[in-house]
Amino acid sequence: MRDARPSAIYLKDYRPPAFLIERTELAFDLHEDRAIVEATLHLRRNSGVGAGEALVLHGQELELLWLALDGRELGEGEYSLAEDSLSIADVPDQFTLSSRCRIRPQDNTSLEGLYKSRTMFCTQCEAEGFRKITWYLDRPDVMAEFEVSIEAEKARYPVLLSNGNPVAAEDLGNGRHRARWHDPFPKPAYLFALVAGDLRSVDDSFTTRGGRQVSLRIFVEEKDLDKCDHAMISLKKSMRWDEEVYGREYDLDIFNIVAVDDFNMGAMENKSLNIFNSSCVLCSPETTTDKGFQTVEAIVAHEYFHNWSGNRVTCRDWFQLSLKEGFTVFRDAEFSADMGSRTVKRVEDATVMRTAQFAEDAGPMAHPVRPDSFIEISNFYTLTVYEKGAEVVRMIHTLLGPEAFRKGSDLYFERHDGQAVTCEDFVLAMEEASGTDLGQFRRWYAQAGTPLLSVGGDYDEDAQTYTLSVRQSTAPTPGQPEKQPLLIPLAVGLLGDAGNLPLQLEGEAPNVESEDNTHLVLKVTEAEQQFVFSGVRERPVPSLLRGFSAPVRLEYNYSREELCALMSRDDDGFVRWDAAQQLAISVLQEVEGQIREDQAARVDPLYLKACETLLQDTSLDPAMVAEMLRLPGEGYLAELAARRGGARVESIHLARETVLKALALHAEATWLEAYRRNVVNAPYAPVAGQIAARSLRNLSLEYLALAREEHIALARAQYASAGNMTDSLAALRVISQRGTDAQRDEALDDFYRRWQAEALVVNQWLQVQATVPGEGALARVQGLLQHEAFDLRNPNKVRSLVGGFANGNPLQFHRADGAGYRFHGEVIEALNTSNPQIAARLLAPLTRWRNYAAPQGAAMRTELERLAALPKLSPDVFEVLSKSLVD
Ligand code: TRP
Ligand code: ZN
Repeated sequence: MRDARPSAIYLKDYRPPAFLIERTELAFDLHEDRAIVEATLHLRRNSGVGAGEALVLHGQELELLWLALDGRELGEGEYSLAEDSLSIADVPDQFTLSSRCRIRPQDNTSLEGLYKSRTMFCTQCEAEGFRKITWYLDRPDVMAEFEVSIEAEKARYPVLLSNGNPVAAEDLGNGRHRARWHDPFPKPAYLFALVAGDLRSVDDSFTTRGGRQVSLRIFVEEKDLDKCDHAMISLKKSMRWDEEVYGREYDLDIFNIVAVDDFNMGAMENKSLNIFNSSCVLCSPETTTDKGFQTVEAIVAHEYFHNWSGNRVTCRDWFQLSLKEGFTVFRDAEFSADMGSRTVKRVEDATVMRTAQFAEDAGPMAHPVRPDSFIEISNFYTLTVYEKGAEVVRMIHTLLGPEAFRKGSDLYFERHDGQAVTCEDFVLAMEEASGTDLGQFRRWYAQAGTPLLSVGGDYDEDAQTYTLSVRQSTAPTPGQPEKQPLLIPLAVGLLGDAGNLPLQLEGEAPNVESEDNTHLVLKVTEAEQQFVFSGVRERPVPSLLRGFSAPVRLEYNYSREELCALMSRDDDGFVRWDAAQQLAISVLQEVEGQIREDQAARVDPLYLKACETLLQDTSLDPAMVAEMLRLPGEGYLAELAARRGGARVESIHLARETVLKALALHAEATWLEAYRRNVVNAPYAPVAGQIAARSLRNLSLEYLALAREEHIALARAQYASAGNMTDSLAALRVISQRGTDAQRDEALDDFYRRWQAEALVVNQWLQVQATVPGEGALARVQGLLQHEAFDLRNPNKVRSLVGGFANGNPLQFHRADGAGYRFHGEVIEALNTSNPQIAARLLAPLTRWRNYAAPQGAAMRTELERLAALPKLSPDVFEVLSKSLVD
C-alpha cells in the first residue's frame, strides 16, 4: 500500500515501451513459508523509441536477493529500487537481466500475483499482478515467449502446471520434483499462470476442424471430480461454435482448466491454463441451480473465446480493455443464445444493462467504454467495459449484418494476429471489410453516459403516413459536460390491429431487404430527426428498440392500452417483455404516489387482467411469461425514482409489495394452475424446456406464498421433496421470505445441516439469509460474519453475505438509522487492507448516495466520508471514494 496520494494515468500519455522482452525464463521454488522466483529476461531496446532511456521494471512487494546483467552481478550503486519499480540507468541495446527474489504467497490475501488458495498455489496476473511475482515490463504491449520451471514438494503438490506444453518432469530425489513448461506463443505477462496442487482431473479430447487432437483437462480437488461434466461439455461446445461461427480453431495440443476457491472474479483466460473461480466451473444437479449451469456454460465459453479475442490478438494498453472484453462478452452472449433461448438471453442481458450498467453510467464512476484515465485499472473491470462494450460490438453487428461482420472479424484476426492493438484497430477492420463508414459510431467508445431517446408518433389518416420524431440526448457525466449525437440503430415495427404492418420509409427504396417487411433498423444520427412511413392503413402502436437494438433509455408516452397491445401481440419478444415491464413500472409508480399521499392503494385492474391473460396462455414460452411477470426490483425502481426527485426506499418497497400481493390475489387460481402445470417429471437436465418450466413454476410459488399463508405449505412440500438445487433453493427462499420465523429457522437449519460440506451451496445459504426481511436482518448478517462457514478472505462468501445484504435487502441495508451503511463500511475497512479489489467493488452501492432522499442519502455520504478519512487507503478504494465524494 502506498502512502502517497495515488495519481491518475491517461490514455493520451501512452508511449510504446522503451524495451521489449523476447524471451522470459522463470524458475519457481515453492515452499511453505516462501517462494523464490528467478527470472531471466532477454531484453532489447525498442528501436526508434527507447534510445538513451533507462530500463524501468515494475515490481511490488518483492524482496531482492540477487541481480545480474549479462551474467555479472550488479552492485548496489548500479540500480535503484523504489516501492514499485527497479531501474537501471545504463544498459546496452540488447542484454539479459537475471533476478532472484523472495515472495510470500501464503500471506498474499489480495489474490493478485502468486497466492495460496486453500491447499494450492495459483496465480492471477491480470491486470497488473505479475509485478508481484518478479520485476518485469508488466504491460500488455510487451509480449514474450515464456519458459517456466516449477519446483515443489511432491507429496503436497503432485500437479505442477503452467502455460503451453510440458517439456520435462524430474524427480529431484529429496521429496521434491520439478516440471518445465514452454509456451510457444509470445504473450503479455497478464496471461502467465502457474498452478501447484494436489489435484485430480477429468480428461477428454477435442479434434479441431483442421485435425488437431487437443487434450482437455479440468483440474479440481478430488471431492469435486463429479462436478466437472457440464463444464467439459460446455468447453467442447464452445470450441465447435467458435469454428463454425468465427472460423477460429484452437492452436495448442493442450487446454487446461483449474478450479480454485479463492478468486476475485469469475475466471481468467491465461494461455492454455484457464483458472476459474470454483463457483464458475463446478456443477451438479444436486448442488447447482439452473442459473448456475447457465453461468458455467457462459463463462467457460467466454474464457475459451478469449484465446482469439484477447490472447492471439491482445490489448495495447489497459484503456483498450473493452477490445477484448466487450468483443468476448458479445461472442459468449451469442453462443448462449444459440445454446438456449435467444429471447430470454436477450431479456436477461438487457435487464443487466438497464438495472446495473445504466446505474454505473449515471453515477460518479461513469466512464466511457474506452476510459481516458484511471487510478487503479482493477476498478475498470466494469459493466460498462464488459456489457456496454458488448452492446457496442452488437450494434456494429446490427449495422453491418452478419456476413459483413464476419468479414470484419476475419480481417481483424488475420491482420492483428500476434499483436497488441486498440479499439480503433477493431473498428477499422470492421469498416474496411464492410465498406461501412463508422465515423460517427466511434463516439460510443469515447462518450460516457446512457443516451436518452425521446420518441413521439404522429398518424396522419388522410395521408396514410406515420411519423416517428426522435430526439437524442445524453446527460453530462464526470469530466464530460458536453455530449455529441451518436449513431444509434433503432429497430422498429408498427403494430396494427391484426399484427405488425408492412413498413415503407418515405423516399426510400421498397423495404425488401429483410426477410419480412415488418421490421426495420432506423439509423438515428441527429439530435432531432423524423422518420416518415407511408402507406400506413391504420393508426399503429410503435414497437420500438426491438431486441434492445441499442444501449439507450427510450421514452415514448404509451397509454396502458397500447402497452397491453404490445405485450400481447407484437412480433418482437424483447418488446413484449419491455411493454410488460413498462406497464408494471407505471402501475408501481402510481401506487407509490398513492402511498406517499396516504391514499388507499389501487392497482389498475387493466394491469392485473393483462398479467392473468398472459399466464393463462399456454402457447407461450413459460420462461418468457416468467420474465414478463417478474416485477422490476427495488434497486431499479430506486434508480428510476432518483431522476424524479430522490428515491424513498420505504414507499418503493411498500408499493412493490402491494402490487405483488394484488397480482397474487387477483390471479391466485391461475398461479396455482401454472404451478401445477409446470412441474417437470423428467430427470433433471439444464435444458431450455426444463429451465423454462422451473422458472415459471417457482415464480408461481412466490406469488402463491403472498396470496395466502396456507400456500407456504406448497413451498415446504417442494423443499422437502426437491431433487435438484433449483427447486430446493427456490422453496427455501420463499419460506425464508414469506414464512413464519419458526418455519424459516427450521428450513435454514435443515439446509445448512444438509449442505455444510458443499462450500458453493453454503454460499447460497449465506445469500438467502442476507435477504431475510425484517428488523433482525442486520443482526443476523453480523452474526453470520462469525459463523464457521464464513471467511472474510474468501471473495465468494463476502459477495454472498455482504453483497447479498446490500443488494438484496434494500429496506434493511437502507435502514433510516444508517446502521446498514455503517456495517457495510466496516467490512470495506477490513477488506481495504486484505483485499483492495473486493473492497472497492463493495463500495458500489454506497456510491449511489445521490439517488436517495433524506435521511438515507446523507447517511450514505457520511459513511463514505468516514472511510475517506481513514489512513492508508488502497489506490482501489481511494479512487472510488474520491470520485464519489466530489461536489
Ligand atoms: N479477463 C478476465 C475475464 O475473463 C477478468 C479477470 C479475472 C480479472 N480475474 C481478474 C480482472 C482479476 C481483474 C482482476 O473477464
Ligand atoms: Zn473476459
